[in-house]
Amino acid sequence: MLEVLEQLPADPILGLSTAYKADTNPKKVDLGVGVYKDEQGRTPIMSAVAKAQNILLANEDSKTYITPQGVPGYIEGMLKLLLGQEHKTLIDDRVAAVQAPGGCGALRILAELIKRAKGDTTVWVSDPTWANHIPLIGSAGLEIKTYTYFDKELAGIRFDDMLQSLQQSKKNDVVLLHGCCHNPTGADLTKEQWHQVLELAKEKQFIPFIDIAYQGFGDGMDEDAYGLRLLTENLPEVLVAASCSKNFGLYRERVGLAAMITPDQKIRDAVQTQIQSVARGIYSMPPSYGGALVDIILNSDDLKQQWLAEVTEMRERMHTLRQMLADKLKAKGHDFDFITRQKGMFTYLCITPEQVQQLRNEYSIYFVDSSRINVAGISKSNVDYLADSIAAVL
Ligand code: LMR
Repeated sequence: MLEVLEQLPADPILGLSTAYKADTNPKKVDLGVGVYKDEQGRTPIMSAVAKAQNILLANEDSKTYITPQGVPGYIEGMLKLLLGQEHKTLIDDRVAAVQAPGGCGALRILAELIKRAKGDTTVWVSDPTWANHIPLIGSAGLEIKTYTYFDKELAGIRFDDMLQSLQQSKKNDVVLLHGCCHNPTGADLTKEQWHQVLELAKEKQFIPFIDIAYQGFGDGMDEDAYGLRLLTENLPEVLVAASCSKNFGLYRERVGLAAMITPDQKIRDAVQTQIQSVARGIYSMPPSYGGALVDIILNSDDLKQQWLAEVTEMRERMHTLRQMLADKLKAKGHDFDFITRQKGMFTYLCITPEQVQQLRNEYSIYFVDSSRINVAGISKSNVDYLADSIAAVL
């Protein structure tokens, strides 16, 4: 039976790590997978997380199953972080949610939920979007269409064309939006543009599906949730997939949240049973560990302050690295100022796939073919080499 299965090519993002590790060039630079790195290129455990681990170790007294919904304090803490303390939907008790194995798990649960609610739903994704959105959502059997988003020539968003594409959406279509720090381009909607998306959602009656995996990496924890809070406050149904991989640095623990804003409590109760049943049919229930750590952090004033300060440091460092690279390239006569206007961990260099390949093959600089770089992989020690190499292939 198995002989019919063909060998697949390496994953376009994760495969870069293997290629990078195998490269023996001492000057090699890894700007591939979206993992935060410090000046030394390490991804250390955040201090607030390390303290929470000690607390958990001292207090956890059983490894029995947790509830199908997940760790209660985690879910409550995350909903407040995402929506804000006093959000109308929380006061009205209209939010169904489960802890999910990572942002990917959350995206897949919500895609399966859409499939159950309306099997022929079309999901609109930005062009471009994170490469894994397509298999995660498509594997649930949903049709995917794209809406215009980023233009490499402009190095920015074609917002009018985005609205025009979404004019084609039908009632109850689902529109996937990146809450902040758009992956892969780093180009985010302005506040004004979020308001226009809200108006269009009301007019066309599409359902926003917000993927927020980088909260705190753009402008700040509350600032990055602006669009999410606006849409959830003003629309009856919104799907939200959140991740703690990046802002808590809990990549390998797989911690995410699948949430659904519903029109009323009766629908909320039904949806809650449905998302738990979707999860039960795939992996039964989420692992406890990462959610338990986030619960400890978000529900302790001291640890939360410490964690917020650490995220601020990471965000500011990424801003500085953007500026540094743009300045170095400017000094060589190339205008890459758009890098400083983009947000979060990623930026599109807006160069051709051939130039990306040349940088990989001749200079051992690894990043995704689309020209997406992980800004956190830049450091004071590699930025000159990086700028020189980019300038050489332009
Ligand atoms: C990325 O976009 O690089 C990360 O989210 C890692 C992944 O799973 O692709």
